[in-house]
Amino acid sequence: QQLEIKLEMLEKGGYEHFMLKEIYEQPRSINDCMRGRIYPLEGKIQLGGIKEYAEKFKNAHRIIIVACGTSWHAGLVGEYLIEEYARIPVEVEYASEFRYRNPIISENDIVIAISQSGETADTMAAIEMAKSKGATIFGICNVVGASIPRLSDAGMYTHAGPEIGVASTKAFTAQVTALTLMAFYMAEVKGTLPKTKLIALLSELERIPSLVEKALESDKLILEIAEKFKDSRNALFLGRGSGFPVALEGALKLKEISYIHAEGYPAAEMKHGPIALIDEEMPVIVIATKNSSYEKVISNIQEVKARKGIVVAIVTEGDTDVVKMADYSIEIPASDEAFLPLLATIPLQLLSYHIAVLRGCNVDQPRNLAKSVTVE
Ligand code: AGP
Repeated sequence: QQLEIKLEMLEKGGYEHFMLKEIYEQPRSINDCMRGRIYPLEGKIQLGGIKEYAEKFKNAHRIIIVACGTSWHAGLVGEYLIEEYARIPVEVEYASEFRYRNPIISENDIVIAISQSGETADTMAAIEMAKSKGATIFGICNVVGASIPRLSDAGMYTHAGPEIGVASTKAFTAQVTALTLMAFYMAEVKGTLPKTKLIALLSELERIPSLVEKALESDKLILEIAEKFKDSRNALFLGRGSGFPVALEGALKLKEISYIHAEGYPAAEMKHGPIALIDEEMPVIVIATKNSSYEKVISNIQEVKARKGIVVAIVTEGDTDVVKMADYSIEIPASDEAFLPLLATIPLQLLSYHIAVLRGCNVDQPRNLAKSVTVE
């Protein structure tokens, strides 16, 4: 039995849980996802899997992203990136809804299916349906040789390595990295990004693993914050722009492993309903980094504070304005807005992890959940 315990510790690389190990693996997994695919000096992206589909991407009328759960959140980040840089209209669909509708799909549409496991039943059914209507299917998957890559016309692996924790962490950031590469690739083939901007973005992307490393340094502070909220019954996560899917993902992580009810909302939507929930007991986690929506988020924080909500802000290092207003602040390194989701996700993963551990929950195998949902 002692040998078994030792073996398990070895598998966890000395970490207490697989989830924590996988959170800490992210500098490496993000790097693995982009290795051999980006050439910052030349401003080039090489994606073997879609090379022969370059024309198809160039002429695509629309991209439909289908996925479930965390992978769907990655899809929402993809929507921001592809529309921003490649100027192709994107729709993001829950695979389980898409497959039971009668969606309008043509041969000029590209469907991107995202799945860590590559075995999710609803995502597979959505692919089959889109395929029967003539769409080209592009799969983004982590598990090599799984069913979804085999069902797809082309695709790319995320190379995050095996993810054991049921709550997805490194697979999510690898999916976001893959979508970032795709958005830049499409922008390159469509000519929607000036070469100099593409060079600058790729050089910054190359730095992301070390910035993620830096974001992980807030772990101790996050544990202290987790102590304050371990007995909360509810939490609200707010973000704008690509910070919105990060908020959704933060809320899902907290729900999954700590069983605290949490909701993710676009910060500006708060006044259309959820603001009624805010009182002195409600933790409101806000993505308030210095980007295009910074000023707007500040006014959302003021709205929360006016109702005595407790604000935990994810801020850009060196920030003073939000720090003054928030009850707790967690810094992440400054970077281009394109990479905000990769950095802002890290503290939220750690926050859920610590809260769940403090509540005595089984973080690697939360109740009622399976790693891959192969039933409809
Ligand atoms: C993530 O933490 C969840 N366990 C879940 O939402 C998951 O992302 C979803 O079931 C989709 O799985 P897939 O990526 O393997 O298709």
